Amino acid sequence: MTKTAQKLWAEVDHYFDRLIPPDPAFYAALAANRKAELPAIDVTPLQGKFLELLVRVSGARLVLEIGTLGGYSTLWLARALPQDGKVITLELERRHAEIARANLQNAGILDRVDLRIGRAADLLQALVAGKAAPFDLIFIDADKASYPEYLDWSLKLSRPGTVIVADNVVRDGKVIEPDNLDPNIQGVRRFTDLVAAEPRLSATVLQTVGSKGYDGFALAVVIR
Ligand code: SAH
Ligand code: DHB
Ligand code: MG
Repeated sequence: MTKTAQKLWAEVDHYFDRLIPPDPAFYAALAANRKAELPAIDVTPLQGKFLELLVRVSGARLVLEIGTLGGYSTLWLARALPQDGKVITLELERRHAEIARANLQNAGILDRVDLRIGRAADLLQALVAGKAAPFDLIFIDADKASYPEYLDWSLKLSRPGTVIVADNVVRDGKVIEPDNLDPNIQGVRRFTDLVAAEPRLSATVLQTVGSKGYDGFALAVVIR
């Protein structure tokens, strides 16, 4: 992509930021994540708002997030929930989880979040084994190489009507490169093939541009 296009995408993102009422806890979370030198791969504010709206339109009460980082996306998901709603969010790195916990606490929303530390695959297996209630919405955003596996677990933790969202399925357009050996690319390609072949899912992809560059969300609904 050209540099001018990236600059324009970022400026347009910032123009539309006026749709988002300023919330100090959200700014503080992003600032804390940068201060802690977490990778700057949180969803953007407008993407976070998109997640909030998905929670609202689906009427979700129980949300699963795979990949917490500093909890910025978790904040958006949790904020949209009713008082008795819950986000279970899974994170491999203890340090990321600790920063997320502080951010969620600071936003006064930690009581709606169940933050679990470990390999997502293990934590997902435990959720299935523990017969966790089906989730209303699932946000997949951890290591892209494991997206096929996360899709599989997500289906086991779903019911008809469950919304499944996966971040970063376009990756600067690299998703169309069949011979790309990057395991992240292979993961999203395999994920896409599995979604396409899965009769229980009805799905689409929204390509996105913005301050984080060129990427996209996969959006699927469990239909049976
Ligand atoms: N959802 C966050 C960004 C997540 S970044 C946001 O938008 O704000 C991806 C996160 O997944 C990182 O924190 C990384 O540590 C975590 N992760 C990577 N591999 C994982 C695994 N196998 N199990 C659980 N979490 C993992
Ligand atoms: C990466 C991961 C993300 O979740 C994201 O939103 C952007 C980039 C990455 O691993 O490169
Ligand atoms: Mg992401």
